[in-house]
Amino acid sequence: MKTKKAICAILPFLFLSASILAQDDTQWNTKADSILSLMTLDEKVGQLNMLTGNWEATGPVLTDINKAESLKQGRIGSMLNVKGSKNTRELQSLALQSRLGIPVLFGQDVIHGYKTIFPIPLAQAASFDPEVIGRAARVSARESAVSGIHWVFSPMLDVSRDPRWGRVMEGPGEDPFLASAIAKAMIEGYQTPFDDGLSVMACAKHFAAYSGAIGGRDYNTVDVSLQTLHNLYLPPFKVAAECGIASFMSAFNEINGIPATAHPYIYNLLYKDWNFDGIVVSDWGAIREMVVHGYSKDRKQATEQAFNTGITIDMESNCYSNYLKELVEEGRVTEATLDRAVKQVLIWKMKLGLFDDPYKYCDEKREGEEILSAASRETARDVARKSIILLENKNAILPIVNMPRDIAVIGSLANSKRDMDGNWVSLSNESIAVTLLEALKQRYPASNITFIAGYSTSADDRSGFGEAIEAARKADLTLIALGETWNMSGEARSKGDINIPSIQQELATEIYEVTPHAVTLIMGGRPTIFNELSEKSPAILYCWWLGTEAGNAILDVVTGEYNPSARVPMSFPKHLGQIPVYYNHKNTGRPPVESDRNYSGRYIDMDHKPRYPFGFGLSYSEFEYTNFQTEVKPGRLVVSLNLTNTGLYDGAELVQVYVRKLWGPSTRPVKELKGFRQVFLKKGTSQSVQIEIPFSDLSYYEADGWSDAEGDYKVFIGRNATDIIFEAPLTLSGCKGL
Ligand code: GLC
Repeated sequence: MKTKKAICAILPFLFLSASILAQDDTQWNTKADSILSLMTLDEKVGQLNMLTGNWEATGPVLTDINKAESLKQGRIGSMLNVKGSKNTRELQSLALQSRLGIPVLFGQDVIHGYKTIFPIPLAQAASFDPEVIGRAARVSARESAVSGIHWVFSPMLDVSRDPRWGRVMEGPGEDPFLASAIAKAMIEGYQTPFDDGLSVMACAKHFAAYSGAIGGRDYNTVDVSLQTLHNLYLPPFKVAAECGIASFMSAFNEINGIPATAHPYIYNLLYKDWNFDGIVVSDWGAIREMVVHGYSKDRKQATEQAFNTGITIDMESNCYSNYLKELVEEGRVTEATLDRAVKQVLIWKMKLGLFDDPYKYCDEKREGEEILSAASRETARDVARKSIILLENKNAILPIVNMPRDIAVIGSLANSKRDMDGNWVSLSNESIAVTLLEALKQRYPASNITFIAGYSTSADDRSGFGEAIEAARKADLTLIALGETWNMSGEARSKGDINIPSIQQELATEIYEVTPHAVTLIMGGRPTIFNELSEKSPAILYCWWLGTEAGNAILDVVTGEYNPSARVPMSFPKHLGQIPVYYNHKNTGRPPVESDRNYSGRYIDMDHKPRYPFGFGLSYSEFEYTNFQTEVKPGRLVVSLNLTNTGLYDGAELVQVYVRKLWGPSTRPVKELKGFRQVFLKKGTSQSVQIEIPFSDLSYYEADGWSDAEGDYKVFIGRNATDIIFEAPLTLSGCKGL
């Protein structure tokens, strides 16, 4: 067809520039306008339609649509769940047969790695180390890009206080300050272009307050005050916008009666207050679900509401493809608004270089050479080591510096590759993870290692107890692996009971009775409850789901090759009834006091404190804090101290700075994390540590908007949010407006 050939011939010349960084936005706008002028209404709508590939389903799949034909007709602008550069190349070739040959964007849930799997994000949050987290994102971005992926649906920035919600595994924990630091590190790790010009778009999700679901039940109602919305849930999303993130993804939940996918308040913040100029993609089917919510009369109205609020792309609702053209023709959506949305999609395709070379990301040879490289695996091992929390170490039985000959390994999770990867590894489920048992055999080939599953993860079956207990009795060291299988946390995996299954705790406690040399390794995607183990286990390491190098990383910590430095990113409850339990709570007028059995905010049947508070974690070393000082400098507070490693092992200590504003027009939490740093010290050495807190970090959304830093505070240094080493009063004045 002459027209098509003529137009396809024009397009490439529009984009002769080599680097996405060489042109300012004006040029992108000019070029995008040139393409828009060639597009029909159908073609514009097509750019705003995202459908899934058939390699994975991460949501309820619509009736089967002929996607090959839709691609050739320019009715699909982006896809997700397409595996590898071979398949993305094939589908891209179909899109290039359309009249204008506009290339397709390929997105993917790269949540904690593409092929090299890293610890789940909640485990990475436990590292309290943005540099480490950034490195994991960098490797993930590279492996995605060389596999044909342009867009990662990460970071998930849902701050959460409810471990019953299965998606805490994907998130940054319970604190907005930590979450904001993670957001910055991951977005920079993802979006910084590589030397060869490849780069990926990141996606801040889920916008917003998804983790506030009542009862911790996924997709459930969120009813939240403006203070909680601004002070708890929105900070990492604001940082994401400030970092120039390419995209946001809407959340499934409603917020105070309006689905987040069409909530005017949060999108007004995003576009007007935060000056976001990227793409917003709905979550899977979220636009059509606005009818199910009881907000939209029908899918056509849902289309109008979502689009006019600011959702650029419709993922897997087929609402935009079915109704947007009609709405434009009826004037209920203006063509100018439509053009603005389409331009954003076109501009990001240009920035990725897809108009210069639509196959730029699809090189099977390069994919084969780069995926799962030794360097990537070493990074994964380092991130995993730094994500393991030492929760108990009675009588310092850890580290096991001299591994004994006879070792018992108990628990099916000690030898399950699939479970080591955890959930949200959609394109890597043929797991190649190193299990604990494999790592042990590789590292100690001369040892006599006995592996007994001992318990079942799917049945109340104690038939393996006897063999396991006997093996432990005979061994010099017993490693017990307990916890969740890969699908017990994640999307639609909320739980009413987060106790480690009693059958597992029962076996472990029976083992503790026959040997003092037992180390318990708890795996899973969330904080869990295991009171019997906490009280009776000689040693507990919280190992989350650590990914490809899980077994090696666990052994690095067990043997002391790595001194554990991770800390609790989300409070571990002692009882289900406490949930939600979190560190940055308000003081109330009658705080819970154990001794006051009449009029204080305590439970009468249990204590109110978590088993392991935010920021908690043990080390093989001891650290001494001295010379704590605070100093007010222009625009910032400077906290300094001296730290000494008085222990027997080199290691890192997480210095934690908390503040509390003592009074004001809105009550404030009893602690707010405002500074942290992992400080590595060789044994016997000291270092002075300075942490600066900009006054702007002390702002808080109060009854009538954002406060400035003025006021009376206490400043704390804590080993965690409740174990305070130093505190000092502080009054800030003369910093109005800061
Ligand atoms: C899922 C998730 C979202 C994911 C999307 C695409 O339902 O909520 O986090 O990015 O669909 O798989």
